Amino acid sequence: MKFHNLNLSLLMACGLIFFQGQSQLPDEDLRERAKTVLGKLEKVPMERLRKPIVELGQRLFWDRRLSANGKIACASCHTVEAWGADRERYSVDARGNQTKRHSQTVFNSTLQPGLRWVADRKSAADQAEKSLTGSMGFERAEDVIPLLVEHGYGGKFSLAFPQEAAPLTPKNYALAIDAYEETLKTPAPFDHYLGEDPATLSDQQKRGLQLFLDIGCADCHSGPLLGGNDLQTFGIYQDYWLATSSEQRNAGLFESTNEESDRNLFRVSMLRNIAKTAPYFHDGSVNELSDAVRIMAKVQLDKELDDAQTADLVAFLESLTGVIPVNYRDPFESGSLENLNTEQTKD
Ligand code: HEC
Ligand code: HEC
Repeated sequence: MKFHNLNLSLLMACGLIFFQGQSQLPDEDLRERAKTVLGKLEKVPMERLRKPIVELGQRLFWDRRLSANGKIACASCHTVEAWGADRERYSVDARGNQTKRHSQTVFNSTLQPGLRWVADRKSAADQAEKSLTGSMGFERAEDVIPLLVEHGYGGKFSLAFPQEAAPLTPKNYALAIDAYEETLKTPAPFDHYLGEDPATLSDQQKRGLQLFLDIGCADCHSGPLLGGNDLQTFGIYQDYWLATSSEQRNAGLFESTNEESDRNLFRVSMLRNIAKTAPYFHDGSVNELSDAVRIMAKVQLDKELDDAQTADLVAFLESLTGVIPVNYRDPFESGSLENLNTEQTKD
């Protein structure tokens, strides 16, 4: 009997190990794959938000007076309601013109090697400096300087750039905005899943993640931002405008280079907070995330998704929604900068 019992408990022990192995292994596999192909977005240390250069950048970003018509701030087209992007398909600039493409979110954007839909700005500072003569409507970038003087920015530039005798320059304007945008990172449940808490994702979200990796979304949308790294043709298996019903056609990088090989090349969008940044694509032509997902599968991968697959993918993409950074708000509204200290301890 003893012998039997031993065998039984051995069997049971083996069974238990086997059983545990069964239930954990696929999940571990999935996490490992996701860690390798995608990856975790790191938090910004809270003390960084109080650096003079970051606070200066926040003011510059939200100050409507620093534009040619005195009415447009960066935040006019990169709103809180749209999680740093714009709810409108196109936005109106300080000259009264419509933008050529849809306004993208600034959250997490500084981690990309090239900015804008065709990655033609090499850094956030480059983007900000060129905005002065673009969206902000100035004739020359230097035209912002008298406005900075008039509105009392001298001291703040000196604090932010203590080594410089004459810090009021377009270059420093751009560096301060860059430093501010660096703090606009939005870690999400997906990062907890990869990190300390594998139970964060629901079964549906895990199915969506698995599909995202298996059918090839992640071949383009890779890295911690799930995209943002390179340019790809939009519309590989079908002209994109047939699927999106776009009113205007934009040919991507071709518009500026006129090289046939650049036709319809766009930067692979990052997908962080994607559930919050409708409308979708470079022309804001699609309102629903589920439609954007189906269109991607069709025109990029030649795959028709069924309803369940689409819902799983959308559920996974929702796990990329973080929280709006505490310093993404108008510092000129009374008290909001002063309140930063207490609120930042919240996660
Ligand atoms: C009139 C609306 C408007 C204003 C004002 C505006 N932007 Fe934008 N922004 C856009 C549009 C549209 C794009 C996409 C441009 C493109 O690729 O064609 C964009 C792109 C960006 C990007 C690139 C994001 C990415 O993922 O690559 C950043 C960063 C950015 N803007 C920051 C700023 C800053 C800083 C200011 C103020 C100096 C500013 N924007 C003012 C409309 C605007
Ligand atoms: C061959 C590369 C490639 C593949 C594969 C691919 N995408 Fe994309 N994706 C892109 C590009 C490029 C864009 C930008 C298109 C544009 O110009 O608007 C984009 C845009 C998106 C957008 C809209 C982003 C925004 O900010 O509006 C979503 C959502 C998206 N992709 C999800 C997916 C999903 C889900 C899959 C898998 C079913 C997938 N993609 C497969 C290249 C790809």
